Amino acid sequence: MVMEEELRRIWGLFPTGVTLVSAVGSDGRVYSMTANSVTSVSLEPPLVLVCVGHERTIHDLIAEGGKFSVSFLTSDQGDLALHFAISTNDRSEDSPVEYRTSASGVPLPQDCLASLECQLEMSHQAGDHTIFLGRVLELNRGEGRPLVFYRGGFTKVEEP
Ligand SMILES: Cc1cc2nc3c(=O)[nH]c(=O)nc-3n(C[C@H](O)[C@H](O)[C@H](O)COP(=O)(O)O)c2cc1C
Repeated sequence: MVMEEELRRIWGLFPTGVTLVSAVGSDGRVYSMTANSVTSVSLEPPLVLVCVGHERTIHDLIAEGGKFSVSFLTSDQGDLALHFAISTNDRSEDSPVEYRTSASGVPLPQDCLASLECQLEMSHQAGDHTIFLGRVLELNRGEGRPLVFYRGGFTKVEEP
């Protein structure tokens, strides 16, 4: 436990962008989860990975449906990041974001900084998470600056 708390604090010193990972359930509804364990793996072919906890609602949707999107949030979308960091069961029914379905059948939240449409390529069990490797099918770019997660809170960066 001491290790876990210190690990959290140490990782808090490593700033990351913040994304929404989105997928469609068998009921046709779109589910999103706030995620920062997202990494670019390869440009050719284009591959991205996201680590998803086994208990997360979206875990089985990605594992079974095979399609998902990874959307980078802007600095004024902290409210979305908080909304989708609450367990699905405890969230308000009103979604604070609208989605469109892309030509490849992937749900895309509107007004994000960028979105990657992904097809699941490989899954790997790692501790209490699964590493999902996705092949990027399409790219979408929006406007704004990135939302940044640092020391347990949200902040933003200046343009270099
Ligand atoms: C900044 C931030 C980043 C997060 N990154 C991840 C992540 O990469 N993978 C993950 O499984 N959960 C991550 N979470 C936790 C989920 O967003 C959170 O557990 C969410 O409630 C999941 O919803 P569910 O319980 O309905 O599955 C993150 C939370 C925050 C606030």
